[in-house]
Amino acid sequence: MADVELTAAIKSALAEVDIPGGGDLAGYAGLSDIIVTPGAVAFAIAVAPGMEAAFGPAREQAAAVAQRVAGTRKIMVSLTGGKPPAKAGATFSHGKPVPPGKTPVPGIKHIIAVGSGKGGVGKSTTAVNIALALKAEGMRVGILDADLYGPSIPKLLGLEGQPAIRDDGIFSPHEAFGLKAMSIGSMLIKDQAVVWRGPMATSALRQLLRETDWGELDILVIDLPPGTGDIHISLFQQAEVDGVVIVSTPQDLALIDAKKAIDMLPRFQVPILGLVENMSYFIAPDTGARYDIFGSGGAEKAAASLNIPFLGSIPLVMSIRERSDAGVPPVASAPKEPEAQAFRAVARQILRNTPQIRS
Ligand SMILES: Nc1ncnc2c1ncn2[C@@H]1O[C@H](COP(=O)(O)OP(=O)(O)O)[C@@H](O)[C@H]1O
Ligand SMILES: [Mg+2]
Repeated sequence: MADVELTAAIKSALAEVDIPGGGDLAGYAGLSDIIVTPGAVAFAIAVAPGMEAAFGPAREQAAAVAQRVAGTRKIMVSLTGGKPPAKAGATFSHGKPVPPGKTPVPGIKHIIAVGSGKGGVGKSTTAVNIALALKAEGMRVGILDADLYGPSIPKLLGLEGQPAIRDDGIFSPHEAFGLKAMSIGSMLIKDQAVVWRGPMATSALRQLLRETDWGELDILVIDLPPGTGDIHISLFQQAEVDGVVIVSTPQDLALIDAKKAIDMLPRFQVPILGLVENMSYFIAPDTGARYDIFGSGGAEKAAASLNIPFLGSIPLVMSIRERSDAGVPPVASAPKEPEAQAFRAVARQILRNTPQIRS
C-alpha cells in the first residue's frame, strides 16, 4: 500500500475508536496528522489537561486499530497536551529519588547528553567519538541520535536501514563498533523533520528512548539537536540526565551561542558536565605540526568565565571529516592518532568529573 493510501486507511479505521464525551477519533479535532515512514506510523491525540486517563483506552484502541491496518510497521501513538499524570510515591533511580515526572529508563544507568549552541560545530562527531572513547574505558555504551533536524549518527557509524522491531513492538537497536545505536533519522523520511516538530518529535524521542531494548548499559550518550527546544525540554523532564556536554568551536564561543544552550540547563536541574572545544587547533597532515589558528586557551578561559568545567580540545584535522563521512569514527578506526587521543582524553575527563558513573 502506498503511504498516502495507508494514511487514509488508518484515518478511516480510527472511526471505530470511541472517545470520551462522544464521537469517534477520526472526527476528533485533536487528532494530529498521521505520519507514515517505512518502518513506523505515528500520530498524536491532543487532550485537555486532566483528560489523559480518560483517553487511555482510546489511545490503546487506536494503536490496535492502526496496527491491524499497518501490518509490521511500528505504531507510535501519543497523548499530548496535558501534564504527565502524578505518580503515587517516589520513584528511585541509582538509589536516589527521582524528581516528579522523571522516570528511569530500563537497563540504562546513566545518561549523558551532548548539546551545542548551533549546528555544524561537530556535536555529532564529538558525541560518537566520546561514546566510543567511554567504551574504550570499559563502559557498556549506547548512543541515541535525537537530532531530528540533522540526524547524522547513521552516517557516522555506517548504519544501514531501519532498526529491527520485535514482535512485542520493541526496537532492537543497531550495533556498531560495540555501541548500541538508535537514530531518530531511521524514523524520518527525507525532509519530513518539519512535520515532526513539537509533540510528534517529543513522542518519537520518548519511544526511541523507552521502547528500545538497550540491554544493560552503563552510559547512554544522546546527541541533542542544536540550540534548545522541545526535544531538550522533553528529555530533561522525563529522564534523569547525569549531565550535558557542550560542544563549541572557537568562533561559536566568541558569539556566545553556546552560552544560550548552557543558560537553560539549570532550570531543569541538569548539570553541565563541561565544554569541549572542537576544531580548536590545526594539525598539518604532512608534518603533524600543530597550529593554534585561534590562539590558545580561549575555550578554557571562556569555560572559566562561564563557571563550567573545561573538558578538552579536539583538533581540526581532515581525517576526522574523512573518517566521519566514511562511517569509521577515528576513536574506533585510528585509535593511535592524536585526534582519537584527544577524544579519549575528553572521555576520561568526563569520567573524572562524574564519579557516580564509575561506581
Ligand atoms: N575536529 C574536526 N576536524 C575536521 N572536521 C570536523 C571536525 N569536527 C567535525 N568535523 C566535520 O564538520 C562537519 C560537521 O560536524 P557534525 O559533527 O556533523 O556537526 P553538528 O552535529 O554540530 O552539526 C562534518 O563534516 C564533520 O566531519
Ligand atoms: Mg549533528
